[in-house]
Parts: sequence; C-alpha cells; structure tokens
Amino acid sequence: MSAKGAFISFEGIDGSGKSTQARLLAERLRAEGHDVVLTREPGGSPGAEEIRALVLQGDPDRWSAETELLLFTAARRDHMERLILPAISAGKIVICDRFADSTRLYQGLSRGDLRATVDQLHDLMIGREPDLTILIDMDPETGLARAKGRQGVEERFEDFGTDLQQKMRAGFLGLAKEFPHRFHTIDGGRPIEIVAHDVHALAQSHLTSSL
Ligand code: ADP
Ligand code: TYD
Repeated sequence: MSAKGAFISFEGIDGSGKSTQARLLAERLRAEGHDVVLTREPGGSPGAEEIRALVLQGDPDRWSAETELLLFTAARRDHMERLILPAISAGKIVICDRFADSTRLYQGLSRGDLRATVDQLHDLMIGREPDLTILIDMDPETGLARAKGRQGVEERFEDFGTDLQQKMRAGFLGLAKEFPHRFHTIDGGRPIEIVAHDVHALAQSHLTSSL
C-alpha cells in the first residue's frame, strides 16, 4: 500500500514507553495494510545485535566515551546497510526504537561534550535522519522505575541513574527544538492506549502528507 518508503524513529529516556509504542504503531499500521519493518537500536541486524551486547552489558566504565561512540556508529552503519535502507527503497515503513538522536545525547553529552564528533561521524558514516521522530517525553523518576522493573542484564546506561536521565530528558527536548521539522513530542506519562492514539494520529498525518 505504501507507494514510498518512510522512516520513523522513537526517542526518549529509558522506560518512557518507546518499545511499547513502536510495537503498537507497527501493529496498527500493518492492520491498515502498510508494509512495516519494526526494528531497534543498538541492534536491528545480526552484526549490530552482536555489538549491542558489547555496549549494553558489563561495567559502566567498560569503554572510553570515544570507543563507545565508534561501536554505536558501527552498529548503526550495519543496520542501515542491511535493513533500513533496503526496506525504505522497497517502499516499506521502517519504525526504529531509538536512532542517531540517542547517540547525540548519550554519547554526545553524558561523558563530556562529544556532540561535534558525534555529528561529524554521523555525516561521514550514516548521512540520513528519520523523516519523523516521535519523542515520548516523561518524568525520569517514573521512567527509571519502569525500566528497572524489567530487571534485565542490559543496564550499563540505566546504572548511570536519575541525574543522567534528567539530563537526557532536557537534552531530548533541546533536540526537538533543534530539529522542529521532524521532531514531535508526546506526553508519555499517560495510559498506554491514550499515548498510542496520539502516536498513531501523528504517524497518519505524516504518512498522508508524504506518501
Ligand atoms: P522504553 O522502550 O522506552 O524503555 P518500554 O516500552 O519498554 O519503554 O516500557 C517500560 C515499561 O513500562 C514496560 O514494562 C511497559 O509495559 C511499561 N509502560 C510503557 N508505557 C507505559 C504507560 N504509558 N503507562 C504505564 N506503564 C507503561
Ligand atoms: P534501549 O534498549 O532502547 O533501552 P530502553 O528500552 O531502556 O530505553 O537502549 C539501551 C540503552 O542504549 C539506552 O540506555 C540508551 C543507550 N543508547 C546509547 O547510549 N546510544 C545510542 O546511540 C543508542 C541507540 C542507545
């Protein structure tokens, strides 16, 4: 049904409901007849999933900030080459749980100011932004409590704690101002179905204006 591909990313702090909303949006768009690829970062392709384990597990100080940035960028490049770009070219809607805006913040801001390096590497190795970025904004205390409730092994970043989450929330709102043409912010502190309704309306309006 989609004549032209589309690339939608979800961003927000840990536990804000990105994965939940990305899945619900994919289900609704598929039910409407769209060809949808639901994916995530870090990961999304076999090679990038291997890098995911390297960056998300283990000691928070396992990698230097620069090495970590290279690993995230390597994972993204593989994901782009093997999954995202071919799917968009085939006219599919790609929904990605986190993308380069997460790198701009987590690697660009959390351990010193690496934002300029992040942007340079992005231009050199990735060179593409999503058409629509849905920021699920919410209070970091609630987000962290939700994320901790999952009790997984991928806690390298969650272990940085509430201070980092506060900084990330402010950072995401800053990116929304920096890239107003593609960023749309949705209040994630409401029941899942209500958030999902707003997310779907936003995606619909983007798709009808661009497809
Ligand atoms: P993220 O991908 O942003 O880290 P998730 O979608 O994995 O967030 O959600 C984290 C946890 O919070 C999950 O257990 C999920 O079921 C729950 N959750 C997600 N959205 C909401 C919401 N709007 N209200 C209450 N709980 C939610
Ligand atoms: P994710 O699996 O989306 O975690 P959550 O569901 O808790 O939001 O992402 C895992 C962590 O990876 C998250 O804490 C943010 C971090 N991350 C980066 O630091 N840089 C990046 O480029 C990406 C995509 C994620």
